[in-house]
Amino acid sequence: MAGGIGSRFWPLSTQKFPKQFQDILGTGRTMIQQTYDRIKKMIPNENIFVITNKEYVALSHQQLPEVPEENIVGEPLIKNTAACNLYMANKISEINPNATMIVLPADHLILKEDIFLEKVEVAFDLASKHDYLVTLGITPTRPDTGYGYIQFVDKKESEYFKVKTFTEKPILELAQSFMESGDFLWNAGIFIWNVKTIHHAFEMYLPEMTQHFMACEYNADSEKSCIEIIYPKVQKISIDNGILEKAKNVYVIPSDLGWSDLGTWTSVYENAEKDENENAVKQRHILTYNTEGNIIHVKNSNKAVVIDGLKDFIVVDTEKVLLICPRDHDQLIKDYVLDLKNLK
Ligand code: GDD
Ligand code: MG
Repeated sequence: MAGGIGSRFWPLSTQKFPKQFQDILGTGRTMIQQTYDRIKKMIPNENIFVITNKEYVALSHQQLPEVPEENIVGEPLIKNTAACNLYMANKISEINPNATMIVLPADHLILKEDIFLEKVEVAFDLASKHDYLVTLGITPTRPDTGYGYIQFVDKKESEYFKVKTFTEKPILELAQSFMESGDFLWNAGIFIWNVKTIHHAFEMYLPEMTQHFMACEYNADSEKSCIEIIYPKVQKISIDNGILEKAKNVYVIPSDLGWSDLGTWTSVYENAEKDENENAVKQRHILTYNTEGNIIHVKNSNKAVVIDGLKDFIVVDTEKVLLICPRDHDQLIKDYVLDLKNLK
C-alpha cells in the first residue's frame, strides 16, 4: 500500500512527493524500495503488487523497476486503506481464488529482517489453513495515539493469540491505560489473510463497498474505467476502522521486529542519530545553545541557523514551509496541512 500522502510527516512529505518515495533515513533506498527488498526474499516479482494513487504510478515504476508494470495499480481517488485492500483482494482472487496474501505499508522501518520473515512464514501458515485475519503485533513503548491497539487472549507458549479487542487510534488517556495494563500490542499494520477470508469480512462489515466493487471485472480491459466510475461512490475508511475493529476472527502474532512506522516526526526522532543534547540535527550549519530534545531539519544549507533555549520541538525549514511545533503535537500536523489548504 503506497497511496498515502504522509501528512503527519509534512512538510518533508508532500502530496507531490510522499514519504514512501523518499529516503528518509539516508540509507540509499527509499521506504517503498526497502519494503520491496524485504519481501522479495519470500515472494517472486510477478506476485508483488503495488497499490497507490494514480499520481504515483510512474514514480512507483521508476523506483521498483523489478515489479511488472501491470502490477502497479493506480487508484483514481484517495479513499484510505479499506478500498485499496478490497481492490487488491479482487484482483488477486481473479488470478488465484485461493491465494493467501500479505499486505504491507510502504513506509515502515524493520531492523530485524530475519525475525520479520520468520513471523510472516508463521502468519502465512495460519492464514492459509484457517479463516483468520492475521496481524503482527508490536510491544508498545509509548502511549502513541497514531496506532491501533490490540488486546489479546493470552494462552501462554503460543506463537499467536486470538484478538479480544482492536482499538484504532485511541485518545491519549485510553492509549495510556492500554500501555499501563501490559495487555496490549500495537498493530503493525501488516496483514496476512486468504482472499476468501477477507472477502467474507468485507461482505459482513462493509457490504456497500463490496457491492460497488462487484460491478467491475478484474484483469479485464474494462477494469480501469469501471474503477473510475465506482471510486467516487466508495466510502473513505481505513481497513482498521472498517474491518479489524469489528471482525471476530482476528489473530495476532507478537513480533519483535525492531519496527517503526516512520509516519511521524516522533518516530523519525526515535530512529535518528542524536547529538550530546539529544537533538536530532543532521546539518552542520546549525548552531544550538541550551537546546535539547529537538528535531531540527533545515534544507537550505546556505541559510545560517541559530537556536537558543529550545526544548522538545520540531523545526523544519523547506523551500516553501517553515514549521515550528512542540514534538508531542506531531499528530496535529495533518490538521495544520488541512487548515493551510483552507487558508488559500
Ligand atoms: N493505495 C492506498 N490508498 N494506500 C494508502 C491509502 C490509500 O487511500 N491511504 C494510506 N495508504 C497507505 C500509506 O501510504 C501507508 O503505506 C499505509 O497505507 C498505511 O496508511 P497510514 O495512513 O500510514 O496508516 P496509519 O499509520 O495511520 O495506521 C495504520 O498503521 C499503523 C502502524 O503503522 C493502522 O493499521 C494502525 O492500526 C497501525 O498501528
Ligand atoms: Mg503509517
